[in-house]
Amino acid sequence: MSHKIWQLMLCLMVLAFAVTAFAYTTDQASKGKELYVKYCAVCHGANGEGGTVPEQFGKLAGTKVPPVAGPGFLPGMKDVGQVYDFAKKNMPGNKPGSLKSNEYLAIISFALEANGIKPDGKPLTPASAKKIKLSGGEK
Ligand code: HEC
Repeated sequence: MSHKIWQLMLCLMVLAFAVTAFAYTTDQASKGKELYVKYCAVCHGANGEGGTVPEQFGKLAGTKVPPVAGPGFLPGMKDVGQVYDFAKKNMPGNKPGSLKSNEYLAIISFALEANGIKPDGKPLTPASAKKIKLSGGEK
């Protein structure tokens, strides 16, 4: 697919986000950034671009990792609540469920920021996350 089409798709997704956004606080996003770097970037990439699970993860190595930011981000997710549930249950891939609920919410806030969504001073919660729609595929 050409570059232009990706850009257009990204704009549409960001728009879909923005229209229904019940967002997050700047505190959540900055804490989330630290946590992301510490626990998630090793597989998801410094900029959330995805790729494959690196060598050091044994039998997980080589598994495809979808992007969580940038073009085609969160391809399998319909709303941010789903992202939260999925991350809490399955992530980090090598140690599922090892973070606290508010840490997952912080990381997701950071991902929203990385995707161009502005904070609105209200904390992201599992309930508010469900109201932020994404245009990912069915799952
Ligand atoms: C050991 C490597 C690894 C680490 C560390 C890791 N992930 Fe993942 N992540 C994956 C893989 C592989 C997938 C794809 C799995 C699938 O689709 O079932 C994935 C998928 C996801 C998805 C779903 C994306 C989509 O659109 O389907 C989310 C959200 C996610 N990870 C969040 C996180 C968060 C948050 C962290 C840090 C707390 C994290 N991951 C750490 C390997 C990892």
